[in-house]
Order: sequence, then C-alpha cells, then structure tokens
Amino acid sequence: MQLFIDTADLDQIRTAYSWGTVDGVTTNPSHIAAAGGDPDELLAQIFSLVDGPVSVETVSLEADGIVREGRAIAALHRNAVVKVPVTVEGLKAVKRLAAESIHTNVTVCFSPLQAYLAAKSGATYISPFVHRTDLAGGDGLQLLRDIRAVYTRYGYATKILAASIRTAKEVQEALLAGADVVTAPFDILEGLYRHSLTDTVIARFLGDWKQVPPTRLFAEENLARYE
Ligand code: G3P
Repeated sequence: MQLFIDTADLDQIRTAYSWGTVDGVTTNPSHIAAAGGDPDELLAQIFSLVDGPVSVETVSLEADGIVREGRAIAALHRNAVVKVPVTVEGLKAVKRLAAESIHTNVTVCFSPLQAYLAAKSGATYISPFVHRTDLAGGDGLQLLRDIRAVYTRYGYATKILAASIRTAKEVQEALLAGADVVTAPFDILEGLYRHSLTDTVIARFLGDWKQVPPTRLFAEENLARYE
C-alpha cells in the first residue's frame, strides 16, 4: 500500500519525503489556500520535491471547464494527477480525460455507488472520505471495505485512495481493508512511527549498553572505514 501526504505545505512535504516511506502528495483547494503565496510557484515547488503522484484539484463545476483545467494540470508535470469531484459533470470530464491518458483522482466520495460510477468513468484513483463519513453518522472503514469488494468482484483497476484520515488507527484499518493508498496529514504520518513501548525498550537497551566495555566495532576509526 502506498502512503501519500495530504498537504500543500512545502516543509511538511520535504520532511515527510526524507523518511523514505512517502510515495506521493494530495492537495486540495483548502490546502493551497492554507499554504498561502503564489499558487503556481507553490505547485512548481511541490513537483520539484516529489518523485511520485501529486493530485491537484479542478475548481470548475461543468465538464468542459473541468477538462480544460485538467489538461492544464496534466501539462504541469508527468506526475500530475487531476483531482475531480464525484459529480455528474465531474465524471463526464473524467471519462474524457481518461481517453487522453490523463490520470485522475475522483474525490469527495461517500458511497460505494459513487466509487462504482467513478471506476466506470475510468478514474485512476477514487478517494473515499473516511473520517467525514464517520462524522456524518456513517462507517468510513466499512465504506472502504465495500468499495474494495465491488472493485475486486467486478475487476475495476481504479485504485482506492483512503482520504480524510484523522487518526493512525484509521491508517491501520485502511491497510487491513485493502486500500491501495492512504493519504494523511503530516502529524498522522509522523505518529505512525511512534509507540510508547518502543521508546521504553530502546531506553532500557541503551541504559544496559552503558555497562558494556568500549567496543572496537563502534569506535570512530572503524566506523570511518565504511563512509
Ligand atoms: O484532500 C482530501 C481529503 O483528505 C481532505 O479531507 O476531511 O481532511 O478535509 P479532510
């Protein structure tokens, strides 16, 4: 399963990429507004930092406008993915963009039926909004499982990109539900590395190591040989 970072913040993207476990970026209009500054320059910098898919969202509401914006996004970089809301007009545009071999991420998905229609339209990714489904009284993880079942049963190649993730537990559950990708904010991705028992055990090991006589193995002159 791939991990994407859900942000347009350059420092967050740079740091997350330094970990070596992040595969791509998803942005949305809210992220770009929060990052501030010149949006064209911001997108150019994101593409320069990232060697993987970067979703950029269209803002037109009718298919012709979405297609025009989508072509412009796709022309920015070979890694560009055109993010399109799951509406009638959006899916009409997705079908046309797919015919031009432009990758799309169909977003704001809250039902397996919407995911089914997106797959039929040729979407590269579908983004079910996990946490917002829960907030509205639904079951975001069951939504992921249902979409997985539909896509597997009918052989759709559209990738499931679990979005609107707010907890590490949701990332773990998305893994278990068979998501192809999870996109999550920086603090959630950072939190995936943490476990209090890990810290406790490391502290114990390092405490015990202080009783061990100096070793030639870790001596500076030995380590320098391997640089
Ligand atoms: O970028 C798509 C999605 O992950 C945003 O979700 O719920 O954090 O606004 P949310």
